[in-house]
Parts: sequence; structure tokens; C-alpha cells
Amino acid sequence: MGTIQWFPGHMAKARNQVQEKLKLVDLVLEVVDARVPEASRNPMMNEIVGAKPRIMVLNKKDLADPAKTAQWIDYYRSLGYEAIAIDAQHAKRLNQIPALAKQLMAAKLAKQKARGIRNPSLRAMCIGIPNVGKSTVLNRLIKKNVAVTGNRPGVTKNQQWLKTDETLSLLDTPGILWPKFDDETIGMKLALTGAIADSVFQEDTVGLYGLQFFQQEAPDKLRFLYHLNADEVTLPAHELMVVLAGKMGFGDNYNRAAERIIFDARQGKLGPFTLEVPDGDAE
Ligand code: G4P
Repeated sequence: MGTIQWFPGHMAKARNQVQEKLKLVDLVLEVVDARVPEASRNPMMNEIVGAKPRIMVLNKKDLADPAKTAQWIDYYRSLGYEAIAIDAQHAKRLNQIPALAKQLMAAKLAKQKARGIRNPSLRAMCIGIPNVGKSTVLNRLIKKNVAVTGNRPGVTKNQQWLKTDETLSLLDTPGILWPKFDDETIGMKLALTGAIADSVFQEDTVGLYGLQFFQQEAPDKLRFLYHLNADEVTLPAHELMVVLAGKMGFGDNYNRAAERIIFDARQGKLGPFTLEVPDGDAE
């Protein structure tokens, strides 16, 4: 993860590649991380995708707070998108994506039928920032060994389409765009959830950010996992970090405690969590 370096030239290239491929598809599956649905979106996504119909795919549902996920689904629907929460890793609810696509594209399918096409078809592509689970979604959605090369107008020869069912085909490679990194809070959210490489942030800052979040949102989970008493869990975060370093056997190594918190949060050991809600930040 985090092997892509986003220099301006690379961003322009990524954008062009996605825009070229967009010409080939009827709809877009925008994959985001359900723990950070807005922070894990590309900042120019709306501009790039334009008016093309879209399904917001909130992936990693297993790691996110279910109540907040429901709020996000409502929010995206209120903006006119289709939206679904899935757990691609454990292949949960993915079969609803082709069904949603057909629902969203009912008019186009009806038109094809009216023109006498017996098996109407839809083409889509997955787009998102690195690490949100695009490849996992793609791999889980396709039926094995049914890759078909494009032989229709507008489909380049080396472009592969993979069938999810008799109607919906997906472009074989996902569109990869860059994350938002100009805002520090967004950067910390992406770092805590593992969407950006560990080398581009300081683990003590991110660990502290995470610790504060869990102190507010899930103090009991913190108490249970790290054997804290009621007084300790309400200490100012930087003081609690020192306590934790001691309890974890790291002496006064604050950074190692921070690293452990990040690791445990990503693993779901502090329970499912979502760092933002639709009408503002969760902090
Ligand atoms: P990308 O194409 O968008 O870059 O993401 P990719 O599919 O490679 O997934 C990134 C990481 O997220 C992978 O873990 C993958 O297993 C995990 N993942 C994808 N979907 C889900 C999900 O719904 N729930 C959970 N919990 N995890 C998910 P990794 O640690 O990079 O690799 P690995 O441990 O699977 O080998």
C-alpha cells in the first residue's frame, strides 16, 4: 500500500486515464471506505465523473459504525446517487450491486429492449483512491473465467470486460485517483484507517488523534482493551498516551504506544468506528 506517489504530473495522467475509460461506461461504482466516506473520496471526483450515473459503494462496512453508515447512505441518496454498504473482503452483499445498477439504469435497459436487443447490457467501472478496496470489490463481483475482450464500437481492443452477471460488465482495471491530502484532519483520518502510507505521517500525531476519538466515542472499548480505570480513560490524551506506553511495556516510548493504537484501530480491536458524519466531523 501507499506505493503511488502523487506528483502533479501523475495526477494529471491518472485523471486523463480515468476520463478516457469513463467514455466507455454507462455508470460508475465510486468505492469509498465506510469509516471515512468523505475523506476517502477524490477531491475532484464530481468534476471528473460529471453527470454519469453513480453508485456510492461504502466498502469495509464490517469496520464501520453501522448507525453512521446508515446516515451516509441516506445522505448520498439525498444527493441523487445510489448507495450501498458492503464488506467486499467477506463477500457480503455484493450481489446487490448488479441489481442496483439495473435499477439505476432501468431507462437505458428499456431502450435497448425497445430497439430489439434481446440481452441488454450495462458497462461500469470502479473508481476510487488507493486502498479503499476497489480490487477486492472487482474480484468478488466477477464470475471467474468469463473475461471478454471488447468487440463492440467504442471499446478498445486491449480493454477487457468482466461479467458480473448476464447484464452488468465491469472494466477489468479500476480507476485510481489521488486522495485529499491538503487538509491535516483529513490526512489523519486517512492515516488512521490505513488509506495513506505510514511513511507520510507521524504516528504520534495520528495515534493521538485516534486516542482522542476513542476517548470520546468508545471509552469502554479503550478501558477493556488496555485495562484502564475510569480516571485514566478521561485523562488528557497526551497524558493517557504516556500511561498506555507504560502499560503496553514500552516504557516511556510514546511513539510505540501511538503505533499500537493505530494498529489496533485498523484491526477493529477497538470496535467498528466511523470518523465522520454527513453534516460535519465527528470530533
Ligand atoms: P484498492 O484496490 O482500492 O487499492 O484496495 P484493495 O482491494 O487492494 O484492498 C485494500 C485492503 O483492504 C486489502 O487489505 C483488502 O483485503 C482490504 N479490504 C478490502 N475490502 C475490505 C472489506 O470490505 N473489509 C475489510 N475489513 N477489509 C477490506 P490488505 O491488508 O492490503 O491486504 P490483505 O490483508 O487482504 O492481504
